[in-house]
Amino acid sequence: MKEVAIIGIGMTKWGELWEKSIRDLTTEAALKCLDDAGVDKVDTITVGAMSGGLFNGQEHLASIAADYLGQRFVPATRVESACASGGLAVKTAYMEVASGLAQYALAIGVEKMTDVDGGEATFALATAADQDYEAFHGITFPGLYAMMAYAHMEKYGTTLEQLAQPAVKNHTNGSMNPNAQFPFKVTLEQVMNSTKVADPLRLLHCSPITDGAAAVLLAPVEVAKKMNKPYAVIIGIGHATDSIALCQRKDLCKLDAVEQAAQRALKMAGKTIKDIDFAEVHDCFTIAEIMVMEALGVVEPGQGGPACMDGLTALDGKFPINPSGGLKSKGHPVGATGVAQIYETVSQLRGEAGDRQVKNAGIGMTQNMGGSGASSITHILEARS
Ligand code: COA
Repeated sequence: MKEVAIIGIGMTKWGELWEKSIRDLTTEAALKCLDDAGVDKVDTITVGAMSGGLFNGQEHLASIAADYLGQRFVPATRVESACASGGLAVKTAYMEVASGLAQYALAIGVEKMTDVDGGEATFALATAADQDYEAFHGITFPGLYAMMAYAHMEKYGTTLEQLAQPAVKNHTNGSMNPNAQFPFKVTLEQVMNSTKVADPLRLLHCSPITDGAAAVLLAPVEVAKKMNKPYAVIIGIGHATDSIALCQRKDLCKLDAVEQAAQRALKMAGKTIKDIDFAEVHDCFTIAEIMVMEALGVVEPGQGGPACMDGLTALDGKFPINPSGGLKSKGHPVGATGVAQIYETVSQLRGEAGDRQVKNAGIGMTQNMGGSGASSITHILEARS
C-alpha cells in the first residue's frame, strides 16, 4: 500500500445558510480544497452525505459534485454511515490512493439540514436509529443520548456540572473559529439552565441543526513532498460497528465501536493514545464527548466527567479535545462532520489554526461516530513538511 498524504483542505462557513443550495455548498468546499492543493483535475470523488433525500429531495450527490466541479466523467461515489458518512468518505478516498487506483482522490462531506423544519429534521436524523426498536416508538437522538447520560450518572456518579463542561470548553474554542455556526462563549450556568430538550440534556448540551460542507484532497506522499509546504500523512485508520439499537448493547455507558476503531487505528500507526497530541471527537451531545474520552483510552472508564472539570481537554490542557469548537459550537451538518474533523486536524498540523492553535501539534486523531455509536471511524494524522 502507498503512504497517503492530505495535500489540500477546504470548508464553507457553517450555519443556517438559506442563500446556498446543497450543490453550492458541495462545490464551494471542494473548490477551496482544490485551490489549497493547487490541483485542478482529480481521479476520483467520494461524497459523504447522510440523507440528501430527506433533507433536500436530492440524492445522486456524487454525480452532481463531479459535474459542478468541472470533473464530469470522473468516477464519483456517495457513501453513507449516518453521522459518520464524512469519515467514511475520507477512508474510501484513502483506499483509492493507497491501492494505486487513483493519484488524486477528493473526499467531500456535505449536509444541508435547514431546508426542512425541526420536526422533519428530527425524523430524518432518527432514520439512523433502529426503526423497529427505537424510532418507531418515538425516541429521538437527544432521547437516546439522554438515556446514555442517565446510565453514566447512575454507574459512575457523573454530575450535571461535569455533563455541562464540554459545552463550555467547546464554545470557548469555537469562539475562535471563523467557520463556526455558534462562535460565542457560554458559562456553566447558561448550559445548566438552558431549555430542557430530553432530560437531563438541555439545548446547550446538544449539537445543532446545520448546513455546511468540507473537503480534503488525498494523494501519494511522493506528490506531497514536491509541494514545498507542510502536509499531513494518514498513518492510521480504524473503522468498527456495533448494534444499532441501544437495548442490544451490554453496557449503555460504553462505546465499543469507538474503542475498537481507535485500537485498530493506533495499531496501524504503531502508536498508543499517549503519543497523540490532540483529537477532534464526535460531541453530538456532551455525554458523547465524555464517553468517547473513555473509549479512546484518554481516561479510565468513569473518569471522563472529572477529567473535563480538571481542564485535561482544554486548548492548553494535556490532551486538547475539539480545538475547532466541536459539533457543539462549530455545528453538525451530519455528512460533513467527519471531513471537517480532518480539515481542522490538518490546519492544526500545518500550524495554521490561528488563535485556537494547539501547541506542538505533531500527531492528531479524529473520531467520527454514526448514530448512537453503531459505527465509528478514527483517523490518525502526522505532520510532515
Ligand atoms: N446550541 C446552541 N444554540 C442553539 C442550538 C444548539 N444546539 N440549537 C438551536 N440553538 C439556538 C437557535 O439559534 C435559536 O436561537 P435564537 O432564538 O436566538 O434565534 C434558538 O436556539 C432556538 O432554535 P431552534 O432552531 O428553534 O431550536 P430547536 O428547539 O428547534 O432545536 C435542538 C434544538 C437541540 C432540539 C436541535 O438542535 C437538535 O435536534 N439537535 C440535535 C441534532 C442531532 O440529533 N444530531 C445528530 C446527532 S447523533
